Amino acid sequence: MTTSYALGVLHGDGIGPEIVPAAVAAVDAAALAAGLAPVEWRELPLGLAAIGSHGTAVPESTLEALEAVDAWLLGPHDSAAYPEPHRSLLNPSGTIRKRFDLFANIRPAKAFEGGDAVVPGTDLVIVRENTQGFYADRSTYAGTGEFMPTPDTAIAMGIITRQAVERIAREAFELARTRGKRVTIVHKANVLKLTTGLFKSVCLEVGAAYPDVAVDDFHIDAMTVHLVRRAHEFDVIVTENMFGDILSDLAGELAGSLGIAPSINASDTKAMAQAAHGSAPDIAGRDLANPIAMMLSSAMLLRWLAAKHEDPRALDAGDRLEAGVEAAVREGVSTADMGGSASTTAFTAAVVAAIGRA
Ligand code: IPM
Ligand code: MG
Repeated sequence: MTTSYALGVLHGDGIGPEIVPAAVAAVDAAALAAGLAPVEWRELPLGLAAIGSHGTAVPESTLEALEAVDAWLLGPHDSAAYPEPHRSLLNPSGTIRKRFDLFANIRPAKAFEGGDAVVPGTDLVIVRENTQGFYADRSTYAGTGEFMPTPDTAIAMGIITRQAVERIAREAFELARTRGKRVTIVHKANVLKLTTGLFKSVCLEVGAAYPDVAVDDFHIDAMTVHLVRRAHEFDVIVTENMFGDILSDLAGELAGSLGIAPSINASDTKAMAQAAHGSAPDIAGRDLANPIAMMLSSAMLLRWLAAKHEDPRALDAGDRLEAGVEAAVREGVSTADMGGSASTTAFTAAVVAAIGRA
């Protein structure tokens, strides 16, 4: 019997309504090729469109529907452009990560063969703690850790807990075991001695149970230099929320383009595919956007489903999706950000065709 999955689809804003359907088409093609039962897609309102239809960017009905699906695809959002009071609220992606405790933000940066990488050969994964750290807008149970006691004073709290570091460190070490068997801990323990010092020491404690995995660590500032010079030498990088957000943009660009940088946000029971990039409102609606990051995020989601359900067909579908993207690029089809001239739709058609041919 083959498992059949129900997946949520949240288009989001800007280029979201272009790249998310592109990823859906690629998943459908990969599922068909792998003999996986067709995905049951459930489209759910989110973002600017939901403010119009439901009076809020993240309707409660959407969150309830997400409880009932296996996993979902989230497009980028342009929450900085929302009308007040929505702009001042926690952004949609932060809201969803928090609600479902999606503590592991897994962000690979892998240079494409024939792609325009700043550091060719880059093939690393940033394992970003996704629930606390220095992002004070999402790290508290109620209220927020960022506040203004007077109009001229702003305060943000950083939070690191042993429990949260233990679970993200385990993700990193387990992942490293399936790859290059090396974990790099990124922190700033010479300045933020207590918070990032705890992050570093708990990661090292967890790492002691993985004697087959080599460990090293760097301060976040030094790490930016090491990545620019030799990103291809790193394997798995584990770090707190804000450092991981910043480093993953850098790593994505070093590997070729932020437009190809995928991610999933996962707990032990739920996962959300989400490109690492933003909503690119300047090119929205013009059929120019690069759907690769959203497609590769969806491939990661298929692999996450495969591991959770011990489903070799879902694993095969994820591999076929990634291979289809790589084949299209190798054949010289790419969008403008990668130096090509293909539209979003033309690139998507090339990926779907490549998956069908394989
Ligand atoms: C990311 C983004 C988000 C974050 C934004 C869109 C809220 O930068 O996921 O990389 O701050 O985490
Ligand atoms: Mg970011």
